[in-house]
Amino acid sequence: MRVYDLIYKKRQGEVLEREEIRFLIDGYTDGSIPDYQIAAWAMAVFFQGMNDREIADLTMAMAASGDQIDLSPIRGFKVDKHSSGGVGDTTTLVLAPLVSAAGVPVAKLSGRGLGHTGGTIDKLESIPGFRTDLSLAEFIENVNQIGVAVAGQTADLTPADKKLYSLRDVTATVDSIPLIASSIMSKKIAGGADGIVLDVKTGDGAFMEKVEEAEKLARTMVEIGKHLERQTIAVITDMSQPLGYAIGNALEVKEAIATLQGRGPADLTELSLLLGANMLLLAGRTGSYQEGYDLLQELLETGAALEQFARLIRAQGGEAGIIDDVNKLPQARFNYPVTAGEEGYISAIRTRELGLQSVEIGGGRARKDDVIDPAVGFVLEKKVGDRVRPGDTLLVIHANTEDIGGIKERVRKAFLITPEKPEMNPLIHKTIR
Ligand code: URA
Ligand code: CA
Repeated sequence: MRVYDLIYKKRQGEVLEREEIRFLIDGYTDGSIPDYQIAAWAMAVFFQGMNDREIADLTMAMAASGDQIDLSPIRGFKVDKHSSGGVGDTTTLVLAPLVSAAGVPVAKLSGRGLGHTGGTIDKLESIPGFRTDLSLAEFIENVNQIGVAVAGQTADLTPADKKLYSLRDVTATVDSIPLIASSIMSKKIAGGADGIVLDVKTGDGAFMEKVEEAEKLARTMVEIGKHLERQTIAVITDMSQPLGYAIGNALEVKEAIATLQGRGPADLTELSLLLGANMLLLAGRTGSYQEGYDLLQELLETGAALEQFARLIRAQGGEAGIIDDVNKLPQARFNYPVTAGEEGYISAIRTRELGLQSVEIGGGRARKDDVIDPAVGFVLEKKVGDRVRPGDTLLVIHANTEDIGGIKERVRKAFLITPEKPEMNPLIHKTIR
């Protein structure tokens, strides 16, 4: 096989065979195929697309490029959840205890934040003492003991995806549905999931800003799941404003605790129940979506989900006392309110911009090796649809520096204020099973 011929074949819009896709991915992983050839191939895929079989083959080739985690020592059906790039998306912190409190094992491998999006591992590490560097044996042991574990990825999962993603980032080939779908699904499969619930975001700051494109991506991933015998459900959700009120690591842990106490923000609570109910359904824990939804709501109301969060924190060495006293979480020294300059309605909140500004004050990473400050971030006081008058607080900046430069002004500009009340996007656009 010659790489040239495979690039040419895809450029002409033909379908690649499984062995051909395997050859490209294996060669790229071991370094025998150079970046420039894979870049040319990725651009050919961008323009010509791939059929469902090719995408499934690409997914498997990438899943097989490194370690694959065997979760079979964990009893029960293992469901994983993936959200595509959220800002202030606190759902994993809520879902891990909530779903496991319902009796479905949650073995969650999570990432760190990069760019405008946050990462669950960073959020959990804002809890004093909390360890996310569990060995695989510890990880499995914890799930069998208490039903839940959340750890960072120590194994060498999907090295092909890591290389390809960096290459796509600098060759204008990120927003290709076959490449995004295979990238996401390869990681879930290498992570050992039996079933997968996908939260595909749409709106400002999401990979797919338009609902139609997000739906195409969602359908493609559900098809991959079918080909690879992993039951998959995809939910398309709105990201035209941040989820909940908090953006920032310790601030989001605090928000998760409130949500687990049944007094969290409406949108975060609703999305957690929706994703959780689909996880229970996939796992066969409940017979219908509604049954799962009701069960999870009950677990919030009775405090069972919160108790499970305390167990998770204790099992991973963290200070579980934060649940009764959130002031034990790191707190920023300075609060700066950002106020509205005019009267009207909030008609949009530029999510990506808020994500980027939270990196700017130290809550996230612009580069992989940046050190983050767990205490800093933003707490919104107004959301889309709210009426404001000049001087009303839109958001409070939590910072550890006295000089926050132009951040205040840029954050203010992230709130679009119009004279008319805007039409509200639904939080949940569609579920694809
Ligand atoms: N998230 C991923 O993991 N991969 C992509 O290609 C895009 C989003
Ligand atoms: Ca939030």
